[in-house]
Amino acid sequence: MKRILVTGSGGQIGSWLVPRLRELYGESNVLATDIRTLSAEVVEAGPFQVLDATDVRAVGQAVMRHEADTVFHLAAILSAIGEKDPRLAWHVNMTSLEAVLEVSREQRCAVFTPSSIGVFGPDSPKDPTPQDTVMRPHTIYGITKVAGELLCDYYARRYGVDTRGVRYPGLISYGAPPGGGTTDWAVDIFYQAVEHGRYSCFLAEGTQLDMMYMPDAISAAIGVMEADPDRLAHRNAFNVTAMQLAPETLAAEIRKHVPGFELTYDVDPVRQGIAESWPDRIDDTAARREWGWKPEYDMAAMTADMLHHLKNGDGAGTASS
Ligand code: NAD
Ligand code: SER
Repeated sequence: MKRILVTGSGGQIGSWLVPRLRELYGESNVLATDIRTLSAEVVEAGPFQVLDATDVRAVGQAVMRHEADTVFHLAAILSAIGEKDPRLAWHVNMTSLEAVLEVSREQRCAVFTPSSIGVFGPDSPKDPTPQDTVMRPHTIYGITKVAGELLCDYYARRYGVDTRGVRYPGLISYGAPPGGGTTDWAVDIFYQAVEHGRYSCFLAEGTQLDMMYMPDAISAAIGVMEADPDRLAHRNAFNVTAMQLAPETLAAEIRKHVPGFELTYDVDPVRQGIAESWPDRIDDTAARREWGWKPEYDMAAMTADMLHHLKNGDGAGTASS
């Protein structure tokens, strides 16, 4: 990777990925793009361009002008928003991926596309969920992610495009807020703990999901793209996880830092249904074996770091705070 273009760079992942890529590969070599204009701070931190990733001509021109050899394709609609507007989710997720893959085929770019635990559904084994297993998701988000994985593998096999990806679990971070997913509670809970000392969770007690702290998610994206291709038996996409959290488990850990922190429940049936259709624990042995994946943060280390940063004013708020 020498010259990189990032789509959807203003979101939860992009706001962490772009600075890290610039640190590693040089500021001017990383072009950040998003469909919306971002804050002056972001735009002035390095090359930035407004780009609709569903517009294949615009993507082609941006890749050509930047002379990109790698695209990190982050633009997408997440699970909860997807259920509110399934046609939008299909359009954005599939049209943008096809555009990025076509441009990458023509201009010989490598492509990173994040997939998700959302590829799994109620028929998948829940604990552990293997790397290769039944994938019949019930959400439109999951359907676009399964189709996306297959399309990426197709472009690799048929056209030799170097496509790679990981199936992220729920991602926890401060800074840019999460974009409307089922796992957003695990971010909201920290903001509410610091601001109000209590949190009302939209998922029910006992709902366990895989999670990961953002620094590890960024290492995973870069790690899989830097991996020796000869060691990769899989491409799209690798299970990766760092911890398994249910609301009451995380609340107990937060209480060690915020005494008296109160957790209550106001369950949203849509997001609860999505969460119940997802794994309790995914098996990331293939990622560990094929490219050395290993997370740094467990629940205790992540919680201490999140609270430290939020208490220092590093948060940007969440959709629900
Ligand atoms: P996000 O919603 O925070 O950010 C998405 C960004 O894409 C936004 O800045 C938005 O403005 C932009 N965007 C939307 N439509 C666009 C378009 N047509 N063209 C260009 N940009 C557009 O999402 P995120 O959490 O940063 O997720 C990035 C990727 O990672 C997605 O593919 C998502 O499915 C995947 N993922 C995220 C998580 C998570 O917990 N955050 C977990 C699993 C997978
Ligand atoms: N965090 C994402 C979501 O809930 C998982 O892909 O949509």
